[in-house]
Amino acid sequence: MALHDRWVQERKHEHYYRLAKKLNYRSRAAFKLMQIDDRFGIFKEGDSVVDLGASPGGWLQVARGRVGDKGSVVGVDLRHIRPLEGVVTVMGDITEDGTMRRLLEAFGGKADVVLSDMAPNIGGHYSTDHARSVDLCNHAVGVCDRVLRKGGKLVMKVFMGDMMPSLLKEVESRFAYVRVHSPDASRDASSEVYVVAKGFLASKNVELKDMAEERGGPEFTPKGGNI
Ligand SMILES: C[S@@+](CC[C@H](N)C(=O)[O-])C[C@H]1O[C@@H](n2cnc3c(N)ncnc32)[C@H](O)[C@@H]1O
Repeated sequence: MALHDRWVQERKHEHYYRLAKKLNYRSRAAFKLMQIDDRFGIFKEGDSVVDLGASPGGWLQVARGRVGDKGSVVGVDLRHIRPLEGVVTVMGDITEDGTMRRLLEAFGGKADVVLSDMAPNIGGHYSTDHARSVDLCNHAVGVCDRVLRKGGKLVMKVFMGDMMPSLLKEVESRFAYVRVHSPDASRDASSEVYVVAKGFLASKNVELKDMAEERGGPEFTPKGGNI
């Protein structure tokens, strides 16, 4: 990257970092979600939101503020999330059935919006990081199949790479509207982009089947579609 571009990028990073501190947001990432919402109209007052990869909680703060007191927000992360008023948190790995079950228990209904800012630990090997990111995205899409209401929305981060077309195909088969977007608050040099999807078709929805009788993980039954 040219020296000037790096300088511009670092200034931008610093700008959002300072702004987050000043406005008491837990992360710079909060501005990415605000910018995505301002552009694509993700939240409505009273919405129910599931946020995957939510720690330290910047997105949770934005979602909570935008859905208001009548809305509900649940955050999931491998890491502890400091308590946040009006937000329920689940600590665990979303790729594990047990975490999915606890999320469904905490949620107890359908979501209007699923968010995922999940990122793998960056190993520095580009194609491995990309593959891990896509794997997390596929799990986020799986969460949509379980909790998202028909017409609902998804915003998820992905590190770009050659598996993008197949990921987008999965998303496009489930949503009426799909865009790939990079908000201003994202670093220019970063390979991260956000998939913004609206109009969930609910064609591949699955429901948790009789959790009480469950043995060795939850069972999901197809509801109006093949999975
Ligand atoms: C970029 S941070 C999220 C920042 C957050 N959106 C915010 O505004 O504060 C990515 C998070 O994804 C979480 N994560 C990665 N893999 C995960 C998984 N399998 N299950 C749950 N969380 C995961 C990480 O622990 C990390 O906290």
